[in-house]
Amino acid sequence: MKDKKRIMSGMRPTGKLHLGHYFGVLKNWAELQEKYESYFFIADWHALTTKYNQTEDLKDNVKNVLLDWLASGIDPEKSTIYLQSLVPQTAMLHIYLSMITPQNWVERDPTLKDLAKIMKDKQENMSNLSYGLFGYPVLMTADILSFNTHFVPVGIDQVAHVELSRDIARRFNNIYKTDYFIEPQPLLTKIPLMKGLDGNKMGKSFNNDIKISDSEEITAKKIKSGITDRNRIRKDDKGNPSNCEVIFDYWKIFASEDEVSEICEGCKNASIGCAECKKRLAQKVNEMFAPIREKRAKYENNDSLLKEIIYDGSKKASKKASEVLDGAVQAIKMYR
Ligand code: TRP
Ligand code: SF4
Repeated sequence: MKDKKRIMSGMRPTGKLHLGHYFGVLKNWAELQEKYESYFFIADWHALTTKYNQTEDLKDNVKNVLLDWLASGIDPEKSTIYLQSLVPQTAMLHIYLSMITPQNWVERDPTLKDLAKIMKDKQENMSNLSYGLFGYPVLMTADILSFNTHFVPVGIDQVAHVELSRDIARRFNNIYKTDYFIEPQPLLTKIPLMKGLDGNKMGKSFNNDIKISDSEEITAKKIKSGITDRNRIRKDDKGNPSNCEVIFDYWKIFASEDEVSEICEGCKNASIGCAECKKRLAQKVNEMFAPIREKRAKYENNDSLLKEIIYDGSKKASKKASEVLDGAVQAIKMYR
């Protein structure tokens, strides 16, 4: 038990999560929590780095993310689930790390460059980029180092951030002549990328997603709108599943090999039409998500339980982060 390696990861509170999050992130976390001492957190401070003036939905967004995590099997008995702003030790470590991080390391951060570009493209001038936003990668480093984390399960888009965390950990150790901080490593897992219903990357802002929390009816309706083999116009046209990049790909995620080859045959010899194929797929999706949605609904009506889970988790996280912070403060030789 004691020498389990630690992992930590988090997400900004963007609201209700979709099946891309489920297959890309949550399912993986739920498996990892069996093997590692796990910390999963909702990055509400990170949300403020860009949305400091749009906080109307913040509470709801945090709640929805938490609901989707719990529904997907992130288990508060196995993992420490916490809210970033309820673990102030992170902010304190951030201060110390910000002192030793060269400014040009932060400016090099590719995600930050992207964000700056997006804001520029939107005709907002650079002065709208806040001081806090430039601290984004350092704050993320503080999240990670707060638990002296061994591995950080993240998607490929976050790897550069984790690399920077390694650099900062190494720099801390060099400056204060210690081996206090573990250099965290990204933990990349092979993950089937789930396309959106229009064939692009699944994403909330593209209006092409299926939410974990969608009802069975909405799920079916959305799947009905998914793109298929464009050459198959009438029902008695023979189809080609390999040109059906969304619906047929989904079949491969949701059904057994036998079922997939049955659909493949039926499509090729036109014995099954697209409407029927999608209807059956929707049933499959709804079947798989029924228990998850049921669990979500149970938590949804229990605000006090949700609060208890996040406060208990944050207390646990604070305790660990506090120990780690104390060691860092000692290494720096602060007056104590
Ligand atoms: N930057 C991550 C994202 O945008 C969220 C995040 C913040 C994070 N701190 C973290 C992820 C620490 C992993 C570890 O999704
Ligand atoms: Fe795609 Fe199914 Fe239509 Fe074939 S029958 S083109 S697999 S939706």
